Amino acid sequence: PSLEEILNLHDFESIAKQVMPEKAWAYYSSASDDEITHRENHAAFHRIWFRPRVLRDVTRVDWSTSILGHKTSMPVYITATALGKLGHPEGEVNLTRAAAKHGVIQMIPTLASCSFDEIVDAAQPGQVQFFQLYVNKDREVTKKLVQHAEQRGVKGLFITVDAPQLGRREKDMRMKFEAEDPSVVTKSGSEGVNRSQGAARAISGFIDTSLKWDDLSWFKSITKMPLILKGVQCWEDALMAYDAGVAGIVLSNHGGRQLDFARSGIEILVEVVAHLKEKRGLSFPNEKFQLFVDGGVRRATDVLKAIALGATAVGIGRPFIYAFSAYGSDGVDKALQILHEEFEMNMRLLGAPSLKDVVPAMVDASNLQSH
Ligand code: FNR
Repeated sequence: PSLEEILNLHDFESIAKQVMPEKAWAYYSSASDDEITHRENHAAFHRIWFRPRVLRDVTRVDWSTSILGHKTSMPVYITATALGKLGHPEGEVNLTRAAAKHGVIQMIPTLASCSFDEIVDAAQPGQVQFFQLYVNKDREVTKKLVQHAEQRGVKGLFITVDAPQLGRREKDMRMKFEAEDPSVVTKSGSEGVNRSQGAARAISGFIDTSLKWDDLSWFKSITKMPLILKGVQCWEDALMAYDAGVAGIVLSNHGGRQLDFARSGIEILVEVVAHLKEKRGLSFPNEKFQLFVDGGVRRATDVLKAIALGATAVGIGRPFIYAFSAYGSDGVDKALQILHEEFEMNMRLLGAPSLKDVVPAMVDASNLQSH
């Protein structure tokens, strides 16, 4: 089908499934164990309803905002997803180009198939990029990666904390990962790979399982980039992150790819906001401690629900990789264009001229569990 026929972000998934190599589909679409968390990620948004306001002038609506002090045309960033070349020969650079066109921020993964420098070089002057870090057991390797990223102008370091070991993604494990795969990662220091159990297992052996809260001060000593913890899943850890002085947290279960039966990010958001308000007197969205959510975001309405509940922005993963797998960077461009159109219409219908007007009273989240 031509790009004109694509109406929403879900469409990219069904098309990608038809056109992608089997191995790529297995790696991108898979989630852990029985994939219950993966299913729940999007479904959780279905339990939140809107309370729109009427008779407000919505001739002009504005969904631009900023993330960690950097302008973005929408409260959405492209989150880190590894191995872009499994789906398309140009890999992650497809994301960089479309991000530039739309003024959105891209998070570069440690395990990108393009080299880090290729992805930075593909950016336009002034284009903002973040870096997602898997912490290597060899801290010298990690230090080099981090300092190189900072030196190349990266504006935020997202340390993935939900993946001391990669989850069992059985669809992916049934595939063999071969040395000649174009996606073999360049700079991860992934020695001792096991190629017999899928892409995820082949690339993850270097990750430091001993990472702990005390290590955060070391990261602060090696970089001035703001630190964000990606993969926080309960208010207790959110509180520890705040007390540790990081700039923000991503409430995420890694797209359902880690612990199955982990809750959805949007559900975690509700308890995190409540407890940080009660215990630290914080209100959200908060400039100094920003909350992000990812997992299952497929519509601007999903994003607006997260904004109403206190998030600064949300991350989207799979729809963008499906989009470039099928259509290259034009696909990602189209996905972002669709989101823009959805923001415009839905903010009008919500009665919210700007994101500041998307307040907690605009949603009924009483069907979400609160702890
Ligand atoms: C991911 N994700 C991820 N996260 C991370 O911190 N480092 C990584 O290398 C990857 N790689 C990766 C590959 C693929 C194929 C997927 C689908 C996901 C997790 C990602 O950043 C994010 O948390 C989820 O993708 C969000 O869920 P959706 O939008 O894909 O539903």
